[in-house]
Amino acid sequence: MKKNHGKIYGLGVGPGDPELITLKALNILKAVPVVFIPVSSEGKESYAFGIVERHLDLARQKRINLLFPMKRDQGTLVPYWENAVEEILRVAEQGIDSAFITEGDPFFYSTFIYLHARLLEKVPEDRLEIVPGVTSFCASASAAMFPIVNGEAKLAVLPAAYGKDHVEDALEKFDTVVFLKVHKSLPFLLDTIEKMGRGDKFVYVERCGAAGERIIRNAGELRKAQPNYFSLLIVKK
Ligand SMILES: C[S@@+](CC[C@H](N)C(=O)[O-])C[C@H]1O[C@@H](n2cnc3c(N)ncnc32)[C@H](O)[C@@H]1O
Repeated sequence: MKKNHGKIYGLGVGPGDPELITLKALNILKAVPVVFIPVSSEGKESYAFGIVERHLDLARQKRINLLFPMKRDQGTLVPYWENAVEEILRVAEQGIDSAFITEGDPFFYSTFIYLHARLLEKVPEDRLEIVPGVTSFCASASAAMFPIVNGEAKLAVLPAAYGKDHVEDALEKFDTVVFLKVHKSLPFLLDTIEKMGRGDKFVYVERCGAAGERIIRNAGELRKAQPNYFSLLIVKK
């Protein structure tokens, strides 16, 4: 490693509201010469970039898009993670500081986790810094005025895109269950929630804090909604 190796930040930029960025993330965001932006396909605007755009000075700061297609098979994503790590290292090795922005928190169901593991193999720990962000489920609970857990209550978080196996079990065992990535499994989730008598004990939040935010508490209404990828369900006992 060169002495003047640039610093690499994993920046959580919150769930959508540009004011829900920590002061620390904002200061770093404004200071770094290079910002890495995750995009799911060429030409498609990044949700995370939409959150930070107003805070950047693109005449002075360089944005570099990194492609991570939406695929369930993690194996097929390895070349994209490796390419991203190479790009990030190329900048750092020139002594330039950079930030990889991640929507919500970088260590909560984020692509950055895969990059972080690989970066740690190549970069000393003090050249890497993670700045936490407000997670989507915490922001959604606040937006919906739907407290998550307190006292002795137990919480589970499940990414609903990966199967139906644990849904009922989690709803039985935990006081509150947060389901992420619900957009393709909403009918099944709603059937299960209603079957278990929770039809009036949930909230659905979409694009929390961003343009087009929706909060739906009624199962009938939700069945008619066209859900967006940036949506989640919080269900209580
Ligand atoms: C890959 S995970 C990223 C989680 C993110 N790192 C966080 O801290 O919340 C993507 C899922 O998070 C949830 N999500 C992210 N942003 C959201 C938002 N603004 N409103 C509602 N749900 C959101 C959705 O369930 C989405 O499918």
